[in-house]
Amino acid sequence: MPLARPVVLGNWKMNGLRADGLALAGRLDARAAHASGTLGIFPPATLVAAVAQRLARSRVLVGGQDCHPAESGAFTGSISAAMLADAGARAVIVGHSERRHGLGETDAEVKAKGEAALAAGLMVVLCIGETEAEYVAGERHAVLVRQLDGSLPSGATAERLVVAYEPVWAIGTGRTPSLAEIARTHAELRGLLAGRLADGAEVALLYGGSVKPDNAADIMAIEAVDGALVGGASLDADSFWSIYAAGGGT
Ligand code: 13P
Repeated sequence: MPLARPVVLGNWKMNGLRADGLALAGRLDARAAHASGTLGIFPPATLVAAVAQRLARSRVLVGGQDCHPAESGAFTGSISAAMLADAGARAVIVGHSERRHGLGETDAEVKAKGEAALAAGLMVVLCIGETEAEYVAGERHAVLVRQLDGSLPSGATAERLVVAYEPVWAIGTGRTPSLAEIARTHAELRGLLAGRLADGAEVALLYGGSVKPDNAADIMAIEAVDGALVGGASLDADSFWSIYAAGGGT
């Protein structure tokens, strides 16, 4: 079964101590008791177990922000997909630009992480997106094809794969591509996914990068946009819920 739309996911990044994180999760849980779509939050690794426990009977799913490709071993500081699943996570983000560009992760590493996540039973949220220099140089399409070809995990199906298009230059900047640009990119991505996966037409395709309550309705009204991956605005339960509601979520 494909994920219920809209799919609105909150990436908390490196934000949240225990008390605040649990309070935020609790506020969302209260609102989401009868949610018709798919809501997910991705707290920092230190909070995954506590938040997952708090949301054990919730409509809001909990995920990790990254995982190591190996199952276990001598990888100081890293966390495996199996460990996330063991902590109660049901999903994991891989290939976020803050790891691709901030930490030099390659497409091959991202692909291996996604495959490890699928093997551990997690849903994969695969992020792709061009940098500002690539955007200005007109390389957006080529970059997205390269990232999809290099990092789409083998064996993925629409039930356990979400693809998030996040232009690097739109993350945390308050800038977004125009609605026409998002529509064109998502239509292209929809075609690329359909050509690569048997049920690629069903994969939830999210837009991410400066999604806020005031632009969410226009962005999520675009046909090939199934939801949003939200950073800063996911740290406030009202803003996050407004974005979900703007996407048609009840
Ligand atoms: P912002 O919503 O803060 O721009 O972050 C987007 C993002 O990187 C989500 O993964």
